[in-house]
Amino acid sequence: MAMNAIGLEHEVRELLTRLGVQESRYTEGELVVRTPITGQVIAHVAKTSGPAAQLAIDAARQAFLVWRNIPAPRRGELVRALGEELRAEVEALGRLVTIETGKLLTEGCGEVQEMIDICGFAAGLSRQLTGLTIASERAHHRMMETWHPLGVVGVISAFNFPVAVWSWNAALALVCGNAVVWKPSEKAPLTALATQALFERAAAKVGGVPAGLCALLVGDAQLGELLVDSPQVSLVSATGSTTMGRAVGPRLAKRFARSILELGGNNAAIVCPSADLDLTLRGIAFSAMGTAGQRCTSLRRLIVHESIYDNMVTRLKRVYLSVGVGDPRESGTLVGPLIDARSFAAMQSALEEARAVGATVTGGERVGVDGAAEAFYVRPALVEIAEQAAVVKRETFAPILFVLKYREIEEAIALQNDVPQGLSSSIFTLNMREAERFVSASGSDCGIANVNIGTSGAEIGGAFGGEKETGGGRESGSDAWKQYMRRATNTINYGTDLPLAQGVSFDIAE
Ligand code: SIN
Repeated sequence: MAMNAIGLEHEVRELLTRLGVQESRYTEGELVVRTPITGQVIAHVAKTSGPAAQLAIDAARQAFLVWRNIPAPRRGELVRALGEELRAEVEALGRLVTIETGKLLTEGCGEVQEMIDICGFAAGLSRQLTGLTIASERAHHRMMETWHPLGVVGVISAFNFPVAVWSWNAALALVCGNAVVWKPSEKAPLTALATQALFERAAAKVGGVPAGLCALLVGDAQLGELLVDSPQVSLVSATGSTTMGRAVGPRLAKRFARSILELGGNNAAIVCPSADLDLTLRGIAFSAMGTAGQRCTSLRRLIVHESIYDNMVTRLKRVYLSVGVGDPRESGTLVGPLIDARSFAAMQSALEEARAVGATVTGGERVGVDGAAEAFYVRPALVEIAEQAAVVKRETFAPILFVLKYREIEEAIALQNDVPQGLSSSIFTLNMREAERFVSASGSDCGIANVNIGTSGAEIGGAFGGEKETGGGRESGSDAWKQYMRRATNTINYGTDLPLAQGVSFDIAE
């Protein structure tokens, strides 16, 4: 084993101990965990068996029956306490995110900050779970909406945001009065174990939290299927590929369970003639190369006006050829490793397909990093392509940016929308008409439409999610909480008559 890997394994052990995870959970199991930083083994995590998972779902259901009756602001105290535990451990958990996913340290800590932020949001929300009162057409009647928790919420998360996506769902679900059962990616179980330990710390401090309220299932897709098919699970929020969503969505629909699907993206930015090109370049660089192109919101298509195309592409090429690729813990690095060999193979095959239709590729090659022969580092690829070919319309989860040219803004918006996915989009322009058009009903068809910032790096305050093959779900801020509750419409008669709606008469004789 390379020195680097021994060092990392030791560091992981120290971090997990600090974060409160029992040693046997990550040294004695059958799930082999590798770090993408070196490609080598750093832990052996115990898998949850099918029967144990079923027991966890049963326990979560029992916990829900207690939790739903605890006042929401008190439920908010638990989520606030979780936020405090996370705040105390930003560095440790952030570093673990980096080791497990290969994100830069600033992004690893940023992910934990996002968890803290959603906890703050949810704690405030716990005093704002408001419903409407509605004018009744009947005398001495009142109508109102009340919101109630659903039951057990299942969360299936992906490797690239191994903990933040859980928190977007769990923080809201818990203040809304639900129990949560989490199935993280098999590629990222360590950060999930640590998060679960921090949750348990918070619960012990707050007190009165029913056992089993938040459970963790570690293992393969079969555990996810258990959540999807269990009649005890009222809602499943699933983040992953469109292929996964196609399997999960119909199974949930079949039993009329709710779903929040956050699936593939194929995000584009339009660069207009008036754009501030320095700002644009920075926006593109972070969105396209950041997290090694492994965000759902990563920028994958750039649609540039013909008048600035050559200038933009020349500048981008300079950045692509010089950007620091390497160990994500080092300060000069902006692009860390791909998650694994499969991801590298998918990237190479997409680039081959692009070349075959006449595209010009800059970058894309494997980069050697000392002590990391089993890891997959790549130079991000800039691909000039004449048309939106099939390879451009597919999401390849890697740092590939396709660059297309446009003449009229209508053409650019049509290109932006002409893909099956609908997660994120942006326009770079100083022209108010173009910007407003882009965010209007006849503009971007995505769940996220930005002006003068890139496609990635959303804040928790907004609802997160997208349209078309992205799945239509919304998580995180705004009124996404409503999905974790059921709405009851109540009509209350405080009079002495029984008038029927729409003036219907139904007089009985006794
Ligand atoms: C993701 O969920 O993959 C990305 C979130 C973001 O970039 O804001």
